[in-house]
Amino acid sequence: MTKKIGLLIGSLREGSYTRAVAEQMAAQLPEGYEVKQIEIGNLPFYNQDFDDKNQVPEIWQKFRDEIKPLDGIIFATPEYNRSVPAVLKNAIDVGSRPYGQSVWDGKPAVILSVSTGAISGFGANHHLRQSLTFLNMPVVQQPELYIGNVTNLLDDQLKITNEGTLKFLKSGMTTFADLVQRFEN
Ligand code: FNR
Repeated sequence: MTKKIGLLIGSLREGSYTRAVAEQMAAQLPEGYEVKQIEIGNLPFYNQDFDDKNQVPEIWQKFRDEIKPLDGIIFATPEYNRSVPAVLKNAIDVGSRPYGQSVWDGKPAVILSVSTGAISGFGANHHLRQSLTFLNMPVVQQPELYIGNVTNLLDDQLKITNEGTLKFLKSGMTTFADLVQRFEN
């Protein structure tokens, strides 16, 4: 059966390099994997009162319901001030509650970090990894998908021009697909 994969992107920018790389990476998943981009920019900030008082915003519920049946998650993140952009961290927090009902629990994941700088989003990548460990998500360990100096790898249509980069991203998707198979319900 087709495996359903969610793609969460930590940039809301129209011309996001992270989205450009993530989409081209996800397109290299093997046959039998279907990718759906999950909207996270419209989620109100997490506030535990909404859960405690049973006043869950409709859009939170829709997000939680969308994530729950997925077979795996691709997290693609830029780095903001050496960490995960708030919009992506908020989505993770919204999905993690109410306590004991996290939609992330046991779901295989892979992290891609993208940066215009040379450090390749290392800080964001590892802060994200720390949250996913706590959330009990098995995460692809190798290859570590760091993409630095991204503007050197894209043409003006944001297409990846470098064959080596495409090959590297494909190897990440092959490993991720294997992980999804290993943890299938
Ligand atoms: C950045 N940028 C950035 N880059 C980096 O490598 N490390 C960092 O800590 C930061 N910090 C940072 C903070 C904020 C608020 C912004 C807006 C940007 C630069 C970042 O890599 C660049 O803007 C990318 O283009 C962002 O990714 P998208 O939007 O192109 O996907």
